[in-house]
Amino acid sequence: MGYQEVYKGWQSDPEGFWMQAAEAIDWDQKPSKALFDKGNDLYEWFADGLTNTCWNAVDRHVEAGRGGQVAIIHDSPITGTLHKITYSELRNRVARLAGALRAKGIEKGDRVIIYMPMVPEALEAMLACSRLGAIHSVVFGGFAANELAVRIDDATPKAIIAASCGLEPGRVVHYKPLLDGAIELAKHKPDFTVIFQREQEVAKLNDGYDFDWHGFQYGVDPADCVPVEGNHPAYILYTSGTTGAPKGVIRHTGGHLVALNWSMKNIYNVDPGDTFWAASDVGWVVGHSYICYAPLIHGNTTIVFEGKPVGTPDAGTFWRVISDHNVRSFFTAPTAFRAVKRDDPKGEFVGKYDISCLRAIYLAGERADPDTIEWAQKVTGKPIYDHWWQTETGWTIAGMPAGIEALPVKIGSPSVPMPGYDVQILDEAGHAMKPGELGAIAVKLPLPPGTLPTLWNAEDRFRKSYLSHFPGYYETGDAGMIDEDGYLYIMARTDDVINVAGHRLSTGGMEEVLAAHPDVAECAVIGVTDQLKGQLPMGFVCLTTGVNRPHDEIVKECVKLVRDKIGPVAAFKLCAVVDRLPKTRSGKILRATMVKIADSEEFKLPATIDDPAILDEIKVALQGMGYAKG
Ligand code: COA
Ligand code: AMP
Repeated sequence: MGYQEVYKGWQSDPEGFWMQAAEAIDWDQKPSKALFDKGNDLYEWFADGLTNTCWNAVDRHVEAGRGGQVAIIHDSPITGTLHKITYSELRNRVARLAGALRAKGIEKGDRVIIYMPMVPEALEAMLACSRLGAIHSVVFGGFAANELAVRIDDATPKAIIAASCGLEPGRVVHYKPLLDGAIELAKHKPDFTVIFQREQEVAKLNDGYDFDWHGFQYGVDPADCVPVEGNHPAYILYTSGTTGAPKGVIRHTGGHLVALNWSMKNIYNVDPGDTFWAASDVGWVVGHSYICYAPLIHGNTTIVFEGKPVGTPDAGTFWRVISDHNVRSFFTAPTAFRAVKRDDPKGEFVGKYDISCLRAIYLAGERADPDTIEWAQKVTGKPIYDHWWQTETGWTIAGMPAGIEALPVKIGSPSVPMPGYDVQILDEAGHAMKPGELGAIAVKLPLPPGTLPTLWNAEDRFRKSYLSHFPGYYETGDAGMIDEDGYLYIMARTDDVINVAGHRLSTGGMEEVLAAHPDVAECAVIGVTDQLKGQLPMGFVCLTTGVNRPHDEIVKECVKLVRDKIGPVAAFKLCAVVDRLPKTRSGKILRATMVKIADSEEFKLPATIDDPAILDEIKVALQGMGYAKG
C-alpha cells in the first residue's frame, strides 16, 4: 500500500485504523474502542484499556526472548566512555529503581520531576515512573533554578530525581545547587530527592532528604509493572507559550504507546533490532519520544549521546557514532548540521567513516533551510527528510512516510500529513484557503492518539491557547501553506514563540524577566535571524526616568538576569538600551517591524505607527549589535 492509500484508509475509518495499530501493543485489558468523545471538543484515546508503558518498552521484549539485545547505548565523547545496556539489564535496573521509589511512597498518579543530563539513568528514571504509573516531568538541564521551581509548583511532585552534575564542553553544570535553589524558591516542597552521583562531581546530600541513587535501592524488592488506564497521564512536559508560565503538555498512556510504535516503522523505517538515533536531549519532546519511548517500545536499540555536533571532539562525531553503532535512521536538528557544516564545509569528516548502514536522516525542531538540506544530502549521499511536529503532538504531523513509501522530496517542505492529521490552512475567519495561499495551520479535531488531550491543571488555558481561535480545530501556532500536491510548507510562528538552536523559547517570558530589573521601565524581546541557531533573542530596554548609570552595565545585568532566571539555553546575549519602543497609536509594541529591520528585510511602515522616528533609533541600536546592516 502506498501513502495515499494508507492516508485514505485512515480517513475512511479512523477508529479502525488506530484499533489496528493498537494490536501491536500489549494490553492487560484491550480497549473497547479507540476514540472517546468527552464532549466540548475534548477527546481521549483507548481510555478504557489497561496497559503499562514500561512493560511495552522493556519487559515484553525480554519475555519475547530478546533480552540479550542492546536496548541503550550510552556514547559520551564528553567523558570518553561507552556503555551498553541490554533489555534484560534494563528490566532489572528499572524494576529495582521502581521498587526503591515505591518503598519511599511513590504510587500511581504521583508526580516525579526528573532533572538529569544525557545518561541512561535519565531513561531508567522515566521508565521506573511509568512502571509504577507515576507521572514524570523531565526538566531540561539548561534551565535555571527559577524555571525548575515554576515546574515544581505546577506539577507538585512527591519526589525529584536528579544527577549530581551535567557536563557541557569545558564546564561542569552543578545540578545539585540548582536543585536546592529551586526547592528553596518553590512553594511546593517535594518529600525527597534521589541523586545519581556522577564521578565528575559528587554532590553533598542532606541526610533524610536527599537519597543516593544506588544506596536507596539496596535491599528493596523490584517492582512489577502496574497496569494503568489508557487515559492515565504517562508524563507532563512543559513547553514555552506566550508568557513566562510554561504549559504542561500531558501525554496519555494508551495513545502514546500506539502512535509512537506506529511511527517507528512507517516514518523512521526501522525494524525491531535496528539501531535508531535521535541526537537531542531527554529534556525535550524529541528526547521523550525518540530517545526514550518510541525506539524501546518498538524493540530498537537507542543511543543516549552525551556530546555536541562539533567540538566533542570534532565535526566528525555524528558520522563516528553512526558508523560505530550501525545506525539505520538518524534524527537531528538543522542547527546541528549548520554547526557541522561551519566546521567541515566540504564534509571531509564523512569520508573517514563507513556510514553505509545509514538509510536516511530526519530533521525537525525548526525550519530546515534549503542550504543545510542540500549540504547534508551532498556530503552524506543519504535522503534528508524534514518533518514537522511539536511538543504538543509528540510525533510527526507532517513528514515523509518512508516506511510506507518514499515520496519525492520537495526541499523546503516537510512533506505530507501523517494519518491521523487532517491539516488545513485557514484564514483569520477560519475559512479553508486554497493551495498555495498562506494562512494559519490548523488540524481538524480530534487530534490523533499520542497528542495532548489537555494541559496539566489548565483546561481553560488549553482551550484558549489551542481550541478557541478556530472552533473545531487545533491551532498549531504555525503559519504556512499546502501546495497542489498536498505538501505542507511551514513559514513562521503566529505567536511570540521563537526557536533558538531547535529549542522553543518564549520572548514573552524573557520580557517578564527584563521587566523585573529595577532600572527597566519597559522592554521588548524579539527573535532575530542567526546563521547558526536559526534565531536569537534580542532585548530592548527603556530605563526608568532618572536612571543614569552606564548603559553597558545595565545591559550586562539584563543578560545575566535572563541567564540566571531562565537559563543558559535562552542564549540571551544581545541587548540594547533605547529611549523609546516603536508602538502603534493604541500602544502595541511593533515587534514584527523591529524583526524586519534587524534582518534587513523590506517592510511596510505600519499605518497605525505612533512615531516613525523611533524606528531610526532602533536601527542604530541594531547596527550597534551587528544587525540591520543591509
Ligand atoms: N545543561 C546545561 N547547559 C546547557 C545544556 C544543558 N543540557 N544545553 C545547553 N546548555 C548551555 C550551553 O552550554 C550554552 O551555554 P553558554 O552560553 O555558557 O555557552 C547555552 O546553553 C546555549 O547552548 P546551545 O544552544 O546548545 O549552544 P552552543 O553554542 O553550546 O552549541 C550547537 C551550538 C548548534 C552546537 C548546539 O546548539 C546544538 O547542538 N544544537 C542542537 C540542538 C538540538 O539537537 N536540538 C534538538 C531539539 S529537538
Ligand atoms: P517544539 O515544541 O519545541 O518541538 O517546537 C515546535 C515548533 O518548532 C513548531 O511549532 C514549529 O514552529 C517549529 N518546528 C518544528 N519542526 C519544524 C519543521 N520541520 N519546520 C519548521 N518548523 C518546525
